[in-house]
Amino acid sequence: MFETTQNLLHESRPGTETTASRTAEGARDSRYGAPARWLHWLSAAVILWALASGLAMAAGTLAPAPKAAVTGFNVAITTAFLPIFLLRIAWALVAPHPGPLTTARKQRLAARIGHLALYATTSVVLVSGVLMMDRPIDLFGLATLPRPLTDDAWCQWFAGLHRDSCEYLTIFLALHLAAVAWHQLRGRRVLQRML
Ligand code: HEM
Ligand code: HEM
Repeated sequence: MFETTQNLLHESRPGTETTASRTAEGARDSRYGAPARWLHWLSAAVILWALASGLAMAAGTLAPAPKAAVTGFNVAITTAFLPIFLLRIAWALVAPHPGPLTTARKQRLAARIGHLALYATTSVVLVSGVLMMDRPIDLFGLATLPRPLTDDAWCQWFAGLHRDSCEYLTIFLALHLAAVAWHQLRGRRVLQRML
């Protein structure tokens, strides 16, 4: 468990690190493995869409009919995404990590905390989304899951948690994108590690 947590926190694990991850200099040029890259970009697409469209709807930019259609689509796609996100976390725990991007201790710590915050907040957003449902979950008309909670008061509580966690996720994501841009502008090819 200690080892797997270390991996999610980006510590190199003895015996599993690649040659390139032995030094930050080498790690800078190594990449995430193909499964990690696919899972990252698939997650990014679903999360960015659900976040942007959800916030736009909350701001009242859509008429009732398209709003209902987008909400139905979002509920289905994010519920289908939930097991994929669990797979992503499991993969981050067991797969070898390319190693730290820089030798600067504070930056490495900031990256670890930032990535952990993204995993944690996304998990809360997904779980609270399912638990706030006050109606069955329609998966593109292919299957229907019953609402998990029957007490409307609890559904409302989780709706509040869903809203709040979406706001935190937006902040952590903005910091994530700013960090990527910051490293990139300083000549560290961080984006290439994920491409
Ligand atoms: C266009 C949007 C995005 C870009 C350009 C981007 C870019 C990147 C890059 C370059 C890395 C590698 C960092 C490194 O080498 O240390 C990374 C890692 C990561 N990204 Fe993103 N990202 C995006 C969206 C997202 C979203 C929406 C999430 C939401 C959860 C996310 C979560 C993460 C996490 C958790 C990691 C660390 C992976 C790990 O080591 O386990 N990213 N991202
Ligand atoms: C990637 C995960 C998810 C993201 C990023 C996301 C994002 C959002 C956002 C930004 C809102 C608007 C919040 C506000 O009022 O300020 C929202 C509302 C909502 N979300 Fe999610 N959500 C996700 C997952 C889920 C899941 C898994 C479900 C249910 C299965 C769900 C169901 C809903 C519902 C029913 C609403 C209210 C729509 C309305 O106003 O009628 N969401 N979501």
